[in-house]
Amino acid sequence: MTTGSLLAADLVIAVLAVAGWLGGGAASVVGRRPLARGLAAVALLATLGRAITIVALARAGWWFAAEKVLVAAPLSLAAVVVAGPRLLRTPGDIRSVAVPLLFAGYAVGGGLLVTVLHGYPASAGVGLLALAGVLAATMVTWRVLGAQPSRTVSRAALAVAVAALVTGTGLTVPRDVAPDVPHAHGHRDGPPAGEPTKRFTLTAGTATVNVGGRDEAVWAFDGQVPGPELTATVGDVLEVTLRNRDIARGVTLHWHGYDVPNGQDGVPGVTQAAVLPGEEFVYRFRADQAGTYWYHTHAVSDVGVRRGLYGVLVVRPAPATGVDVTVPVHTLSGLPLPAPRVEPVAAGVPVRLRLVNTDSTTHRYALAGTPFRVAAIDGSDLRGPTSLVDTAVLIPAGGRYDLVFTAPATPVALFVDGRAVYSTGPVSRETGAWPVLDPLAYGVASPVPWSRIDREFTLVLDRGLDLRGLLPRYAHTVNGAADPDIPPQVVRLGDIVGFTIVNRSPVVHPWHLHGHHVLVLSRNGRAATGSPLWLDSFDVRPGEVWTVAFRADNPGMWANHCHNLAHADDGMTLHLTYS
Ligand code: C2O
Ligand code: CU
Repeated sequence: MTTGSLLAADLVIAVLAVAGWLGGGAASVVGRRPLARGLAAVALLATLGRAITIVALARAGWWFAAEKVLVAAPLSLAAVVVAGPRLLRTPGDIRSVAVPLLFAGYAVGGGLLVTVLHGYPASAGVGLLALAGVLAATMVTWRVLGAQPSRTVSRAALAVAVAALVTGTGLTVPRDVAPDVPHAHGHRDGPPAGEPTKRFTLTAGTATVNVGGRDEAVWAFDGQVPGPELTATVGDVLEVTLRNRDIARGVTLHWHGYDVPNGQDGVPGVTQAAVLPGEEFVYRFRADQAGTYWYHTHAVSDVGVRRGLYGVLVVRPAPATGVDVTVPVHTLSGLPLPAPRVEPVAAGVPVRLRLVNTDSTTHRYALAGTPFRVAAIDGSDLRGPTSLVDTAVLIPAGGRYDLVFTAPATPVALFVDGRAVYSTGPVSRETGAWPVLDPLAYGVASPVPWSRIDREFTLVLDRGLDLRGLLPRYAHTVNGAADPDIPPQVVRLGDIVGFTIVNRSPVVHPWHLHGHHVLVLSRNGRAATGSPLWLDSFDVRPGEVWTVAFRADNPGMWANHCHNLAHADDGMTLHLTYS
């Protein structure tokens, strides 16, 4: 069983236990004896059964089980000790076990709430708060059912409530608050890029485009979605003028995967102010990374990118030979955008398909009708990629894969999530059962370039209640906090920095660090065995643990976030900064 399914199973069993105890308690209140005993028996089994899932989760990693071991397990034990024996003793009046059964429900439910609303890391304050809630609910129940809570119980409840308030709830205590982000206006540009050799202008504005026969109101660069493809050759100096015609919420250009100097990174409130209607901003950087990249607005990025403010950036080492095309995949107003037309290719011609996932979720790509190699991922060439046939690849949100092959005389087709986006003739659509490439085991390994890690950070991804804003929200969290309350990661120039990224949540988080490419070291405790993988976007699936490392060689303040941009906007964003 994967850790992701263990997490799900544990949640289901906990919900079952709570429902059983509360249902049993309610049934006993109304004197339904067999029902009460049946439900309570189910609840008892589920509560005891959770010991198995909690132990298994703790073995998968403390991050997955901490609050369950420290809070849910003791509360569950209390539930079993209080309610279990009373059930076995078969009370004369079933109504007499109502309070113990309901207490058990509150106790198991309290543990469940800690998992669902708070998660990792567990703290004494959170544990006490849960306990105080359980005791308070029990006392209210006692009164409602017309009995007098015992003196000892009332005193204990009061003591716990006071302790919970004194130790802080862990939810309301201010954390280390992120420092104010500078509103740089290009004053941290890094070394001068030199005289531009390639100039582009992109004008952002509202527009209407036709998608699948329907007119859609979009936000577009130069009136088109995707925006114009920007191409350059290594050594070029790019100058891109961004103008905003009428996007009221502002626009920027972020060069996704391109490790530009900090001042050119296009993050509003961090490296520049958003460009408002009528304004402009000039980006300038040297094109010294070859590969497939993309650009997109980083102002209200979830809405902005989804509505169309993005395009492809391709930097070639030399002028292209053969067929070299980009295939950005994007969903606009719920409809997949048609892929660009690809002309028929003569047999024997080398083809490079640059696949770009500009959506917020993973896509599955299947190239049928030819053997192929994955030449590059996220702009970096792979070492010794072998030939693949009838194998699918999963590209994370924001990620890019370059597939290369020699055009055969027979038809070739590219399927995305089962839909043909490009084909040179009829090809079987039966790609759904193909195995999926594991990039961590593809190509030829080479030693990790460093023998030390100077600074390590752990990022535990989850959901939780964020009470610090004006309105409480159910945020996507990192280490129990949501943007802007996640403490920044501080590194020094030259450090080798390690990240351990843990996904406790039930959804995929495509992780994306700006300004740097990270080298994948391991996934779920198993070292990567294939070509070195230098990524800027990688999917951390539910229950997965990734370790990655990079050299801190690009000073500035960098966004570090989930590239499911709705998650990023809902709290899952932090910053890496140089001391
Ligand atoms: Cu492509 Cu901060 O994003
Ligand atoms: Cu996410």
